[in-house]
Amino acid sequence: MSASSQNPLFPTYSKPDLLFQYGKGSYLYSDKDEAYLDFTSGIAVNSLGHAHPRLVAALEEQSKKLWHVSNLYRIEPQEKLAEKLVQNSFADHVFFVNSGAEALECAIKTARRYFYSKGDAEKYRFITFEGAFHGRTLATIAAGGKAQYLEGFGPPLEGFDQVPFADLEAVEKMISPKTAAVLVEPVQGEGGVNIFPPEKLVKLRALCDEHNILLVLDEVQTGIGRSGKLFAYQHSGIRPDILASAKGIGGGFPLGACLATHETSSAMVPGTHGSTFGGNPLACAVGLEVLNIILEDGFLEQVNKTSLLFKQKLAALVDGNRDIIDSIKGEGLLLGLSLKVPVQKFGALLMEQKMLAPAAANDVLRLLPPLNTTAEELDEACNKIEQACSTLRQGTQK
Ligand SMILES: Cc1ncc(COP(=O)(O)O)c(C=O)c1O
Repeated sequence: MSASSQNPLFPTYSKPDLLFQYGKGSYLYSDKDEAYLDFTSGIAVNSLGHAHPRLVAALEEQSKKLWHVSNLYRIEPQEKLAEKLVQNSFADHVFFVNSGAEALECAIKTARRYFYSKGDAEKYRFITFEGAFHGRTLATIAAGGKAQYLEGFGPPLEGFDQVPFADLEAVEKMISPKTAAVLVEPVQGEGGVNIFPPEKLVKLRALCDEHNILLVLDEVQTGIGRSGKLFAYQHSGIRPDILASAKGIGGGFPLGACLATHETSSAMVPGTHGSTFGGNPLACAVGLEVLNIILEDGFLEQVNKTSLLFKQKLAALVDGNRDIIDSIKGEGLLLGLSLKVPVQKFGALLMEQKMLAPAAANDVLRLLPPLNTTAEELDEACNKIEQACSTLRQGTQK
């Protein structure tokens, strides 16, 4: 169905006429049975590719037992997944949700409620960074601060102060007695694959401690192995107070989580927050198997090796196509090509080569292969990018 007044969907996305029927590993197969190399991975969601046999088995097994039970009662896969996250991170407690924006909503509420419970209801403001993306709910568009996403939706939610990306002096100047938290993505995804330098994260942690401010991380895109560690903050050795996770955690099943220390989460007493579907047994059974795989001995080491290999191959590609590609950005398997040509145009040419990769801001093309992609697939990706460069060059020479 094409985009027209007959289309029953909201016109929020302008989509190409491309319909996928099934997926396997790093490939998606269209209704014309054409294989597409999928380096979009649902924008960092299909962390283990499509139809991973162990995730399919986990989902099938759980589907025969229990699909849904209210959070009014105990949910076994949810408790097991929370335990696994707690064992492998800074966190003491987890609240499960269904998406990244919901994980951020929980994180924002938890930080605000923490100071409220200490008798400081006026300490509710967040400092965020330019170029941030935290989701599309009313709170998260206010946190992201991008005018385009705020336009037309009434007054933005109060309480977010934005400073230039990774500018710690600006953070310090912005801090007031009302500041509750600093919210940061360790690597900005949508914003253009911008790394928040780990040494600055260490300084930011110290600044937060000095001013009695919480450090809240948005690891919706960077988490669950994407950066080469389970969570990207683990590269810097700091510990956040609260962290939002989603995307890759469910391997394609909608799942998100807000992780927090005992101290901050203890203010979230009965009645302060809730979710009908958050922590659903099907989602958590799959999420648990995702973590089982990612935390297996050698898995993250392999992600780092793959990242290095991909960066080497991409560097050669940049060398041969300096008129089109400026540089490589990113960390782990959250990589980006900074382009000298419009990214939408380049993405379309890549799609003609049967490869999918999403755009980010400032003409950056994101490369988000599944974490278990192979060296052959990296070669194939580089060939397709090379081909897209040649086609573009031929087009401009005509
Ligand atoms: C860093 C970051 N935070 C939050 C979100 C919002 O996640 P969701 O679309 O699942 O609500 C995204 C989605 O792209 C993201 O990349």
